[in-house]
Amino acid sequence: MQFLCQQTQLNIKKAADSILSGKVVGFPTETVYGLGANAFNEQAVRSIFKAKGRPNDNPLIVHVSSLNMFNSYFNQKLPRTYELLINEFWPGPLTILIKSPSQIPAETTANLNTVGVRIPYHPIARALIECSGVPLAAPSANSSGKPSTTTALHVYEDIFQRKEAREVMDYIIDGGRSDIGLESTVIDGITVDGKVRVLRPGGVTVEDLKRVVGDDNVVYEKMEIKTADFKPTTPGMKYKHYSPKARVLLLMNDSNTNKSDKIKKLKELIESLDTNDKIGMMTLEDSLMTNELMNINKSSNNLIPYFIGPSNNPSIVASNIFAGLHSLDKHQVEYILVEGVEERNEGLAIMNRLYKAAGNLENVILI
Ligand code: TXA
Ligand code: MG
Repeated sequence: MQFLCQQTQLNIKKAADSILSGKVVGFPTETVYGLGANAFNEQAVRSIFKAKGRPNDNPLIVHVSSLNMFNSYFNQKLPRTYELLINEFWPGPLTILIKSPSQIPAETTANLNTVGVRIPYHPIARALIECSGVPLAAPSANSSGKPSTTTALHVYEDIFQRKEAREVMDYIIDGGRSDIGLESTVIDGITVDGKVRVLRPGGVTVEDLKRVVGDDNVVYEKMEIKTADFKPTTPGMKYKHYSPKARVLLLMNDSNTNKSDKIKKLKELIESLDTNDKIGMMTLEDSLMTNELMNINKSSNNLIPYFIGPSNNPSIVASNIFAGLHSLDKHQVEYILVEGVEERNEGLAIMNRLYKAAGNLENVILI
């Protein structure tokens, strides 16, 4: 396996040749890194599933480099809402579901009759697709259930632990850190009477979608975030998604709790954890929690901070979420306490990922 670091035409060509020979390539996009293969090649698509250890009933997104390429492979009548959204957000972090044409194999769509398509804006992603001359099926470049990856090194450290990945991959293209840091927004505007249904909140916010197609045309069923009393014993995970090795505890702001009670609760929580364990803390840099963390840290050296950004800038926070989970896992922490954010703009996608990373009601704590 080789890192292709300098973005020379020669390197892009090497990676494109690898794609055309049926291999899988790790490549950067503006959202997260992807594991790309020729979307038309069933065997190559199977290799992606193997590399990730992904269940084959979870469909892949197909990436094209331009509207020209989109029109040549996916020529079909689109709803007006899609036309408006494509005009505004492509290239970019928006995936639209359309009818799957017959050349797209069932492996790519997991047997569905729709396929998700997007044009990334990352220049290396686009150059790779353009040079390959075929659409790339690409899920996020993480092993199944783990946090998505936002650097080439994350991809290497996670995916290359897997023999199955080493067998089907020759290259990871290093394009620096992904700007957005959370995956694309996935929308379905074809199966429900003209409305745009948000299946996964992501890089394009629900507010952005509403601004372009109107409030009434966007449907998003907000996840109901439930909380419970914390129990120190590790509960069995009902399902795993975006989960680092450490147990993620999501700290939700309780607007009814005053400052001193919040500090008390935080201290109690930290004290209830085993003092021999390292604890990662992903907090907003200007928050009460960070302030308190600094005080606690003076008396204990098992807390490892990772600042996720300022509370008034959710796009910075979004870009640090997966990076923070990876970084703290590398420190071999036992727990990662993450400060929740308001569910507005990028905050919606952030909380969607964090809630899943916590994975269990008992890991979501009101503070
Ligand atoms: O930003 C992104 O979207 C990244 C980069 C690499 O482009 N890709 C990505 O792919 O996040 P993946 O496979 O990790 O997530 C794709 C999501 C999955 O939740 C999948 O179930 C959903 O999109 N999806 C894909 N095709 C679908 C379809 N036809 N119907 C419903 N959901 C679909
Ligand atoms: Mg994924």
